[in-house]
Amino acid sequence: MEVVPLSSVDEVAALAADTIEALVRARPDCVLGLATGSSPVPAYAELVARHRAGTGPSYDQVRAFLVDEYVGLPPGHPQSYRATIARELTDDLGLPAEHVHGPDPADVPTAGAAYEAELIAAGGVDLQVLGIGGDGHLAFNEPGSSLSSTTRIKTLTEETRRDNARFFGSIDEVPHHVLTQGLGTILRARHLLLIATGAGKAPAVAAAVEGPLTASCPASVLQLHPHVTVLLDPEAAAQLERADHYREVYATKPEWQGL
Ligand code: GLP
Repeated sequence: MEVVPLSSVDEVAALAADTIEALVRARPDCVLGLATGSSPVPAYAELVARHRAGTGPSYDQVRAFLVDEYVGLPPGHPQSYRATIARELTDDLGLPAEHVHGPDPADVPTAGAAYEAELIAAGGVDLQVLGIGGDGHLAFNEPGSSLSSTTRIKTLTEETRRDNARFFGSIDEVPHHVLTQGLGTILRARHLLLIATGAGKAPAVAAAVEGPLTASCPASVLQLHPHVTVLLDPEAAAQLERADHYREVYATKPEWQGL
């Protein structure tokens, strides 16, 4: 795992955008895994700004797969993750709407297996963007999730519903159920890019990166993956015991290595 403590949210956004653009330039028909939530928003805004300025790559052939989705919202609801990603990223990048996939909340019993099949048919995810919940959840895999789970329905914890109430009128409007890629699904992506910013994420980041591998901190499953990059602002990195070492590793890494 490569942990990269950076000096600001802007720096995190710029490096995440660089990483995504480098992949799209190298493989114009790559498969991106996209998370919603607040964490990747500055990186997505940076990608859109570069695209508008004409300095970004073309996204015509890119395919994208959402990491999770709410169950029970009316189709087209502005807080559905499908609507959110279109508004915050894919529409503005010119990524064709038919190239954007998500687990189908209209048919929950079959959605998990169908989504797994879609991911496999697409050749798997090349680069998976991830955030982390304050309780260590990854996508919507709440504490206690099987470390080898696949896409399925999950029930949100009260804490996550409270965290996400800011996107809705009140907590009562936040769905109880979601569809989410499993931790095993996420582990199949070839490169995982976790973005965490703000003091609220510091305990979860420390547990995921330096704590034991445990379903009680679902993001600790990242420790099993051969290619993980964790981009952190100073607040999110504040509880890492080996922060100085991570900075030294990043400052002295061979240039050919990239992220
Ligand atoms: C949300 C999402 C995740 C996200 C995480 C952190 O509820 N389902 O995909 O990564 O929890 O959210 P945020 O980035 O808003 O803090």
